[in-house]
Amino acid sequence: MTASRWDDDPDLGPIVVAEEVLRARVAALGEELTADYEDRPPLLVGVLKGAFVFMSDLSRAIRLPVEIDVMAVASYGSGTTSSGVVRIVKDLDTDLTGRHVLVVEDIVDSGLTLSYLRRSLLAREPASLEVCALLVKESRQRAPVDLRYVGFRIPGDFVVGYGLDVAERYRNVPDIRIYQGAVPVD
Ligand code: IMP
Ligand code: MG
Repeated sequence: MTASRWDDDPDLGPIVVAEEVLRARVAALGEELTADYEDRPPLLVGVLKGAFVFMSDLSRAIRLPVEIDVMAVASYGSGTTSSGVVRIVKDLDTDLTGRHVLVVEDIVDSGLTLSYLRRSLLAREPASLEVCALLVKESRQRAPVDLRYVGFRIPGDFVVGYGLDVAERYRNVPDIRIYQGAVPVD
């Protein structure tokens, strides 16, 4: 493996999921989704901003005529814990009625964001609604989460990269690493 410029950043710790491991898992999820949705191509709903890298790779690993939409949600604050208060910052363009919706999420921590999203999207009467989350933090869920597809279960450390940020930084790190810098104040 070649050295990465990110190796020299003192705020970044060990790699939790390496690039080639991400690539292999995303390919496998793509195959699974291709089989599961063969007769009913899904509408992928990416949750911005964190899911933008995962969604880009995952969508190209699905061999079906998928449609893509995005929404942006924000839980208040820019620190490293979710406040549980979620608001929709950008809504979907697509009418979900009768659609097979697959929500593409970056990471599930407390599960509060997802449980809010699920309720809000189910109210729009899709034919089906499943969630594909790249990462799930072990034993951290405070709200019930129903996750049909999961990339990796990881420990509770705060991580960045592959779309995940701390205060908008590090989304372009190509692997997933522990963030060990100072915690920004909300
Ligand atoms: P939850 O509502 O606590 O499940 O948090 C979900 C959201 O918090 C994710 O969509 C991320 O935006 C953010 N988040 C939670 N844990 C991390 C992390 O370790 N790194 C970066 N963002 C995180
Ligand atoms: Mg975030």
